[in-house]
Amino acid sequence: MIDNTCSNADRVHDKFKELFGETPRLFRSPGRINLIGEHTDYNQGFVLPASLDKAVFFAITPRTDNRVILHAVDLDETYEFTLDDFSKPEQTWTYYQLGVLDQLQKHGYQLGGFQTAFGGDIPLGAGMSSSAALECCLFFALNELFGLGLDRLTIVKLGQKVENQYVGVQSGIMDQFASVFGKEESVIRLDCRSLEYEYFPFPMHEYLLVLCDTSVKHSLASSEYNTRRQECEKGVSILQKYHPDVQSLRDATPAMVEEHREELGPVVYRRCKYVTEEIERVQVACELLLRGDLAGFGKKMYETHEGLQHEYEVSCEELDFLVDQTRDNPDVLGARMMGGGFGGCTLNLIKNTAVDTFEKQMKAAYQQAFNIELPCYRVRIMDGTAEVHRI
Ligand code: GLA
Repeated sequence: MIDNTCSNADRVHDKFKELFGETPRLFRSPGRINLIGEHTDYNQGFVLPASLDKAVFFAITPRTDNRVILHAVDLDETYEFTLDDFSKPEQTWTYYQLGVLDQLQKHGYQLGGFQTAFGGDIPLGAGMSSSAALECCLFFALNELFGLGLDRLTIVKLGQKVENQYVGVQSGIMDQFASVFGKEESVIRLDCRSLEYEYFPFPMHEYLLVLCDTSVKHSLASSEYNTRRQECEKGVSILQKYHPDVQSLRDATPAMVEEHREELGPVVYRRCKYVTEEIERVQVACELLLRGDLAGFGKKMYETHEGLQHEYEVSCEELDFLVDQTRDNPDVLGARMMGGGFGGCTLNLIKNTAVDTFEKQMKAAYQQAFNIELPCYRVRIMDGTAEVHRI
């Protein structure tokens, strides 16, 4: 395990010992990137995510009563409650943990009280799915602690339900899947309809993936996300009248969308056009990856960004600026906004040797345009959710 992971694990572990005076079990769930296939998961399409070296850790022990003590190490805040009350408190950081317990209770799983300290280094609001990592890590830990018998896929599905039912975002399954099923140095092609998946090695010998973090998160992110989902459903209901087999946009094609353009209306048309094209784009991008054609893959990333910017309309000024900065740079093969949108990171595929200069130029340009410091993260792909055994 690499250094910063160890130090985060140690930090959380040591804080737990200091607070509770016991030796805890320790669990880790990573954040994720997504190479291509954005806003396709809840349309039953394909995605291509990978799990990161940035992760959340839970140090945890069971209790003999029905109390739960949550300590957020990075916020230095504690929240206590009993297992018979999952009402939402003022502290919004607790929603993910309460949502996990709410799901377990709804599905009839029996557990006792517990105490935990948790924290990590997934930047919040940067679009690396720190929330999915939190949910999956706690599910995984409670599963081990109380022998609940959950398999990995059930953890993923329950994690998605926490977002949908407790947090209130109608998100798809990608984030939780990547966090739980991630594999070192591999990307996962996931079919979000059948949940079949395949690992592809991502060839990072000459090239690197770098995230540029806008450090903004516009407030409309989650409401617009839910609106996009409804717009896609509206598109499906119209297309279905003419093509009864269309159960989701996965079953539709760009040609069908074109055919019914007028009835769809300008907004729903644009949404459906983007999604049907993006689903096809993931398949083409995977073939390019298999052939080792990273230049071709990079072009697809730019196409995705254009679709997200102009048709799906989930980008923002800061993201567009960062992508535009790369366009004339011959060392950048591809760049695009990543994740839900309205802030977060851009993902950049860059020649190894050019990364230092790239970061320097991007930081300077962003500072000048927005007066915001630009954090850049060089991506390392690590394994998904697991217990951490300290030496
Ligand atoms: C967020 C959601 C995911 C997915 C992406 C967009 O990260 O949580 O389910 O829809 O946005 O691809």
